[in-house]
Amino acid sequence: MAACAERVAAVLPAAGSGARLGAGVPKAFVELAGVPVLVRAVDGLLDSGVVGHVVVVVPAEQAGAASAMLPGRPVSVVPGGADRTASVAAGLAALPPSVEVVLVHDAARPLTPPAVVERVVTAVRAGAPAVIPVLPVTDTIKQVDGDGTVVSTVDRSALRAVQTPQGFRAGDLRRAHAGAPDPRTDDAGLVEALGDPVTTVEGDPLAFKVTTPWDLRIAELLLAGAVERIG
Ligand code: C5P
Repeated sequence: MAACAERVAAVLPAAGSGARLGAGVPKAFVELAGVPVLVRAVDGLLDSGVVGHVVVVVPAEQAGAASAMLPGRPVSVVPGGADRTASVAAGLAALPPSVEVVLVHDAARPLTPPAVVERVVTAVRAGAPAVIPVLPVTDTIKQVDGDGTVVSTVDRSALRAVQTPQGFRAGDLRRAHAGAPDPRTDDAGLVEALGDPVTTVEGDPLAFKVTTPWDLRIAELLLAGAVERIG
């Protein structure tokens, strides 16, 4: 671990039910090629060499199991909340005050390359208060009404798909969560609500979120190298 990593910590929200995956256990505890999604996500952060500690946020009844899965790693495990924003807030509360840079990373992105983690931390260290990894949107995007009828076509050149880890100066993220008006699907949304700037860096297709059984299968194929062989 690099010396400066001591002041960089990550909060890993892993307290979702994983209902859309339908695996019968919380998504973070599903095994991906023999290793739980949660363990892959933690190790991806630590392998970057720029993260010194990870606070893992899990359903209260899974705290013991999560700790047992992560022996020898610089992690702490805390119980989550009713939604993602509440789970991240619980993780933030467990961070030591000495932490200067906080990453928030979905446990559900187990193949995120360490290079993405490094890019985000480098941008925060360079002075950006909030940094998100993004990819261009390749599909045409349409807005629809409640019946599914198209209302408009959105200009995709100005759209970005947002990944994690998202990086913040610790004080800014604490302030954003303290003033959170309502739950958001990401933490940069809370910073935006305060009117603070959010900077983008390049994301990576491998940082995709495992949400459905299809995503899990794709992740398994990638780990097996099968997709590379086809391509
Ligand atoms: O539901 P979604 O896929 O957007 O969740 C993103 C991440 O937030 C997942 O890693 C999930 O475990 C986490 N989460 C959480 N607490 C909740 C809901 C979701 O930590 N109450």
